[in-house]
Amino acid sequence: MPHLPEILAQLNADMRATDDWGDIAAYIPQLASVDPAQFAIVVTTADGEVFTAGDVDTPFSVQSITKIFTLAIALGRSGDQLWKRVGREPSGRAFNSIVQLEAEQGRPRNPFINAGAIVTTDEVLTGREPRETLAEILQFVRAAASDDDIHINEKVAASETAHGHRNFALAHFLASCGNLNNAPEKTLGTYFHHCAIDMSARQLAMAGRFLIETDKLPRMILPARIRRLNALMLTCGHYDGSGDFAYRVGLPAKSGVGGGILAIVPGRASIAVWSPGLNRYGNSKKGTQAMARLAREMGWSIF
Ligand code: DON
Repeated sequence: MPHLPEILAQLNADMRATDDWGDIAAYIPQLASVDPAQFAIVVTTADGEVFTAGDVDTPFSVQSITKIFTLAIALGRSGDQLWKRVGREPSGRAFNSIVQLEAEQGRPRNPFINAGAIVTTDEVLTGREPRETLAEILQFVRAAASDDDIHINEKVAASETAHGHRNFALAHFLASCGNLNNAPEKTLGTYFHHCAIDMSARQLAMAGRFLIETDKLPRMILPARIRRLNALMLTCGHYDGSGDFAYRVGLPAKSGVGGGILAIVPGRASIAVWSPGLNRYGNSKKGTQAMARLAREMGWSIF
């Protein structure tokens, strides 16, 4: 990738040149103190190259990006049975919206909005204890990243548990519709803990390699499943901002409220960006801008 180092260095400099960083996710108090003026970008290729610029080794809360790993495990476990409990259509609503769930009888639109991820977490948890479930999710993430130094941030998990009233409402509503196998507190405890995994942009890009679909890397899940996860990332990975992201970037991607975005260039690369300030959809503001520019300059798009 000849020009990639220069492109990333320039992007890093340009992103830091203006101070419109966006807003930190203050609804999780433990995240509210993060300095918004940070930026990192990492590209890992199918050929094993790694290109970086910015704060690439600073750990951050990956939050909703972990929903990809939980979904991969849930599909591996339950296959298409999972779709009885959760849909695969874009929601067109905020990631933590309640209103659609009632209108659709407790079957969340997709596995990436909070209600849907609570269901996939519940599916993985069924028949096991939270500790085993979290160990499996962590093991998957560490294997994907080829890095064992990836951990759950207990302070972030505790902060969300203490303030996650919206998620408790969603979980109890799911339970009232018969769409939760475990007690809401048990499923949510597991959900909050996997969302609280800390990773650096370098670790996240490495972990994303399992979604590239290439013979050059060890395979963790079936190719057909890789394609389906990518399809869901494209259509649902940025919530009600998914259409805008697909228009501007043209790559499957998943965001987290900690300011990370993981994007995939099928067959070629995994990209992680991180900048903790968010746009109005709850997705990284500078991260989205940087992804759009990188995709344009590299000619990377699935279209
Ligand atoms: O449940 C929540 O609200 C958070 N643990 C995750 C939300 C999130 O990351 C939304 N992404 N942009």
